[in-house]
Amino acid sequence: MLADKDRIFTNVYGFQDWGLKAAQKRGDWDGTKALIERGQDAIIEEIKASGLRGRGGAGFPTGLKWSFMPKTSADGRPSFLVINADESEPGSCKDREIIRHDPHKLVEGALIAGFAMRARAAYIYIRGEYIREAETLQAAIDEAYDAGLIGKNASGSGYDFDVFMHRGAGAYICGEETAMIESLEGKKGQPRLKPPFPAGAGLYGCPTTVNNVESIAVVPTILRRSGAWFAGFGREGNAGTKLFQISGHVEKPCVVEEEMSIPFEELIEKHCGGITGGWDNLLAVIPGGSSVPLVPAEQIRSAPMDFDGLKELGSGLGTAAVIVMDKSTDIVRAISRLSYFYKHESCGQCTPCREGTGWMWRMMERLRTGDAEIEEIDMLHEVTKQVEGHTICALGDAAAWPIQGLIRHFRPELERRIEEHNAQFREAAE
Ligand code: NAI
Ligand code: SF4
Repeated sequence: MLADKDRIFTNVYGFQDWGLKAAQKRGDWDGTKALIERGQDAIIEEIKASGLRGRGGAGFPTGLKWSFMPKTSADGRPSFLVINADESEPGSCKDREIIRHDPHKLVEGALIAGFAMRARAAYIYIRGEYIREAETLQAAIDEAYDAGLIGKNASGSGYDFDVFMHRGAGAYICGEETAMIESLEGKKGQPRLKPPFPAGAGLYGCPTTVNNVESIAVVPTILRRSGAWFAGFGREGNAGTKLFQISGHVEKPCVVEEEMSIPFEELIEKHCGGITGGWDNLLAVIPGGSSVPLVPAEQIRSAPMDFDGLKELGSGLGTAAVIVMDKSTDIVRAISRLSYFYKHESCGQCTPCREGTGWMWRMMERLRTGDAEIEEIDMLHEVTKQVEGHTICALGDAAAWPIQGLIRHFRPELERRIEEHNAQFREAAE
């Protein structure tokens, strides 16, 4: 279990004030100028050494991503940092806690990360529903400006750096990095084809890096305590501490910072008081937010909660939004509800996603009620395969994977419903 002294988010439960003075007492903004004076290359190397992988879901190595940004601007284009606070993945609620209770970690991280990438400014794109959080974040940004920590000659470093907050308007797809860039430019939030990746052509066609809130908020602590310190948690390729968000059928749902790779059972026992009704009552877990396939009870218990461990189980760490479902859950209904979510949130730009998400949801509803034929299970699987990998952005995959997980692990339950329904129908006809 992670010791208190090794926690980065020491105010994640909001027991203390989030404001500048209290944040400084907790160590934020301490020697920021000296951190910046280490220079761009040294900062990027330290982040690479830490093994930090993106905390927004995809797990792309953060230091490597930063190194894609140009070192000089031959054509005079500025560079930008965009911070993704559009946290909308069902089950995810960690960035909200950072912004509510530790916003200065994010603002300081923005300055240091922005400097490392030679960015002119950071845009923090916050989801529209986070109204109080947006107020807190703006107040923290204002405090930092007033104290000379950001803005002209930020923190006395000689570097000019602005931080802007931008509020979204409730579209899940604006959390996709290129849709977010479109939205920031004032256009309809629809994903762009990649490549080019934002590092080549992002906001206003300028080099841009999009990072998740947690990825940026851990940066100052990593630099203060060293990349080797951070890399000492978890295991190779899965380094660091991580905010886990555990919801559903546990005694005490919570957001908690833990060591990466902690076994699922330990995570639940130590922080959530166990599974409702005991371990024998566990049915399945979605370990990384709604975009990753579920894992059945018998496989998850000893699984290391990290990128590679969950990938081996055919799932993923995603945002580490752990959704626990006990045996009272109607698993088909739960996945059907997720299908509806993706159908609703599809931007409609590409045919496999626009049409496929509707098909998948309607077929899921047939399977939910059992009003279907057994062959439709394979037909639905085939539809998910036609959507997966054939779309502009990852929403298509995200809609397909939960259904694939359901069919992989709960086919007998789907068959049972169909047989039961058809038997009732036959009885009524006789
Ligand atoms: P991705 O794997 O396409 O990209 C990850 C990052 O690496 C991006 O910033 C991309 O620009 C960069 N990248 C990848 N290959 C690159 C290359 N060759 N050159 C330069 N940069 C490169 O994944 P994506 O679509 O950004 O994110 C998908 C994930 O987002 C899902 O796994 C899901 O878990 C998560 N997600 C999180 C949500 C949230 O609320 N936090 C909401 C929805 C999805
Ligand atoms: Fe839009 Fe879906 Fe295509 Fe993504 S996959 S661009 S959400 S239609």
